[in-house]
Amino acid sequence: MPQTIIVLDFGSQYTQVIARRIREANVYSKVVPFDTSISELRKLDPVGIVLSGGPASVLTKGAPKPKSAIFELGVPVLGICYGLQLMGKLLGGGVEKSQRREYGRSSLKVLTKSYLFRGLPSKLLVWNSHGDCLTSLPKGFRALAQTENSNFSAIEDPNRKFYGLQFHPEVEHSEKGIEILRNFLFGVCKCKADWDMEDFTVSAIRNIRQTVGSKKVILGLSGGVDSSVAAALIHKAIGKQLICIFVDNGLLRLNEREEVKKLFRDHIPGKLKVALAGSLFLKRLKGVTNPETKRKIIGKTFIEVFDQEVKKLGDVDFLAQGTLYPDVIESVPIGGNPAALIKSHHNVGGLPKKMKLKLLEPLRELFKDEVRNLGMTLGLPKKVLMRHPFPGPGLGVRVVGEINNHRLRVLREADAIFIDELLTTGWYAKLWQAFCVFLPVRSVGVMGDERTYENVISLRAVTSSDAMTADWAQLPDKLLRRVSNRIINEVKGANRVVYDISSKPPSTIEWE
Ligand code: XMP
Repeated sequence: MPQTIIVLDFGSQYTQVIARRIREANVYSKVVPFDTSISELRKLDPVGIVLSGGPASVLTKGAPKPKSAIFELGVPVLGICYGLQLMGKLLGGGVEKSQRREYGRSSLKVLTKSYLFRGLPSKLLVWNSHGDCLTSLPKGFRALAQTENSNFSAIEDPNRKFYGLQFHPEVEHSEKGIEILRNFLFGVCKCKADWDMEDFTVSAIRNIRQTVGSKKVILGLSGGVDSSVAAALIHKAIGKQLICIFVDNGLLRLNEREEVKKLFRDHIPGKLKVALAGSLFLKRLKGVTNPETKRKIIGKTFIEVFDQEVKKLGDVDFLAQGTLYPDVIESVPIGGNPAALIKSHHNVGGLPKKMKLKLLEPLRELFKDEVRNLGMTLGLPKKVLMRHPFPGPGLGVRVVGEINNHRLRVLREADAIFIDELLTTGWYAKLWQAFCVFLPVRSVGVMGDERTYENVISLRAVTSSDAMTADWAQLPDKLLRRVSNRIINEVKGANRVVYDISSKPPSTIEWE
């Protein structure tokens, strides 16, 4: 087991970012709720603890607090923002509401030598977001750095190895923030940087073998990053005991089924069952226009088809899923914390319960970028690992209104052109997602000497880091012009292209 840094979550929207930054330094980190018991924490045997920021004020009654014995575990502690104020208050210092709140960038002046700022310039721009501040230090502490609004922007008790930062080192806008975190990890906690994908792969394979024994495992392969990497990993561990099921629901993109089969043939040479269920899905969706009803029909039919395939296989004990770490972190529902918002939709929700199978989730420790690294270690092609997310209901939520074969064909062809141009120009990799949407609106056009009366295609391209918020991408005019020309010229059934300039919120990424 690699050395562990525990991140106690006080509800900051940046808690996961802290954990990721630590892992990027090759140190394993785990996010746990702020009130995790001391015995649980001891079991995790941390080499250091980080207290995250949070939306609460330590001055209010009922503010979230860790178990007080956390400061007696004998391991270094780093408090960030709310974490610093908490540490200050709990250890006997003073915290007050600031005269002037500090939001955004401010200039930090390093006052004295310390582990945290070792090798760094004495002036740094750092990113703050706080309304309270520490006004007097607890016993044993000294100030390491200050900003205009805060005399104790960084503090330490070198004997007990307690550190505090009023600013957020984990966000990009803080200069040398990553180095400050690294100084905590390697200078203070003496971490060994023993978290890497090759080691993870070896131990994950060992765990899968131990858990599964000689039993059979099924996995719903979508062709997306998570399920493909999960399949490759499990296949490496148990070979033909893994059976992948790919459901063609008739709502896939151009050539998608063939691409998944090819990926499988070339890189995961195990058992793949393809269920051709397009006509069943389309029959059930006939005449349905309400987005929620569509989603329900697609979800329910998926489970039915999947279930039938599994029944044909006889004895199966495990259902494997590509669940990732952000889905399993218990979010701390503290007022005002966007991280506590609804989690993104689940592709195969309801499957395990219905089928009474044990779950196998070998990626549940990993963040998305780590899954991509793992995929690389397993030899999966970059093209697959860099793919944009694709929703479970597929083109079903991208044909607005009723779904039929004509509309799907128009959408598929237009979408393939858009993606092709994004790939050619290098824009694909800069976007979180890009796709076409078929609008059930017809407009008049003219082609040659003839009038046309055909449908509208909307282009959607967004930047985002987690799909919770997203902004429309400012694609170059030239690229948009080319995509529009190609779609109108090459796709029969579309004579107008529009570009969606809505951000999330208030819009969503998908149209339905
Ligand atoms: P929205 O449209 O809610 O989408 O802004 C956020 C992200 O979730 C994806 N999405 C889904 N993914 N099953 C999925 O696996 C679904 O039913 C589903 N609906 C939306 C969407 O593509 C975006 O990345």
